[in-house]
Amino acid sequence: MKFPGYIKSKLPQAGTTIFTVMSALAQEHKAINLSQGFPDFLCNEELMHKADEYIRKGYNQYAPMPGLLSLRERIAEKIHSLYGATINPETEITITPGGTEAIYAAITSVVEENDEVILFEPAYDSYAPAIELCKGVPKFIKLEAPDYRIPWDQVKKTISNKTRVIMINTPHNPTGSVLTKSDLQQLERIVRETNIIILSDEVYEHIIFDGHQHESVLRYPGLAERSFVIYSFGKTYHNTGWKMGYCIAPAELMREFRKIHQYIVFSTNTPYQYAFEDIMRNKSLYLDLHSFYQEKRDYFCSLLKQTRFQFKPASGSYFQLVSYKGMSNEKDTDFAIRLTRDYGVASVPVSVFYSKPYDQKMLRFCFAKKKETLDAAIERLIKIK
Ligand SMILES: Cc1ncc(COP(=O)(O)O)c(C=O)c1O
Repeated sequence: MKFPGYIKSKLPQAGTTIFTVMSALAQEHKAINLSQGFPDFLCNEELMHKADEYIRKGYNQYAPMPGLLSLRERIAEKIHSLYGATINPETEITITPGGTEAIYAAITSVVEENDEVILFEPAYDSYAPAIELCKGVPKFIKLEAPDYRIPWDQVKKTISNKTRVIMINTPHNPTGSVLTKSDLQQLERIVRETNIIILSDEVYEHIIFDGHQHESVLRYPGLAERSFVIYSFGKTYHNTGWKMGYCIAPAELMREFRKIHQYIVFSTNTPYQYAFEDIMRNKSLYLDLHSFYQEKRDYFCSLLKQTRFQFKPASGSYFQLVSYKGMSNEKDTDFAIRLTRDYGVASVPVSVFYSKPYDQKMLRFCFAKKKETLDAAIERLIKIK
């Protein structure tokens, strides 16, 4: 059956994402895959054991729509001890199948036709499509290398009476930059007399380096009172494929969030929720994550010095940007494909994180990999002349 002129794409610009393309190319050329952001090592043994145990004990049916209350209580305790915010686990936390669904449900619950959403690019790829599906209008503000700081004066100028949401992401994918106390204070001042809602993507909250403190919006009452805050168990516990995360928001926002969430998925994986509730008691698993990843960042950067790439070490996240200016004039997409095909290392060209391709001759490498993987990748990368 054909539908000529009948089906109009709701996302006409969307195709296969670069992550799928690069991963497929990596497989085809048996390349080392530093493109998509996922660890190539196992997650915690006890966590795997717990998940297995809960499955075998029969915890295999639907969880409550907002998630297990006992897990939400554990999260509220954690948030209080880390960020000083008092969160009501009954009304202000929802467990979700990953950060991505939480972002989609949050946007969908507040963005109406023609509402403007301010976001910064390069940006994680699910933000703009979520806005467009709600017929909202993304208002992009470019962040510039090498520091990718938010130009707050430009934010002020971009705000209009149609601005519904401002989206921030710290630590930042793909740039590895982090927001500072001064950034959060400026944001707090800018939105003070407005009804603007904040969506704060903090999935890399524990992956932050060089003694920086993670600046959650939850530390700032003037922001916490108007924010959806997005977290991901997958990033913290090395199991992105389990697709588990959560959203925190004031009760009034969370009520609307849950109306959407319940009709997207209704509820989230039951045995994993029990397993996370148990494993969260071991606080060192998340409190020490920064040093685990800082060691990897430092190791990867020390190896990168043997190549011709230029870079500034990431301040957070598990991504390292590199510039290949002076090595080639190719477009970053072409260079990334050639790197995969001819040298056997897959990366992501940074231009794809912009609404309109913006080629700055930069690539993103993921260093959430075993030492052997990073060694093998560099052995290949030093061959590029
Ligand atoms: C900035 C950012 N937000 C959200 C997500 C999604 O997290 P999850 O895998 O839990 O859906 C990712 C995953 O790569 C990310 O990098």
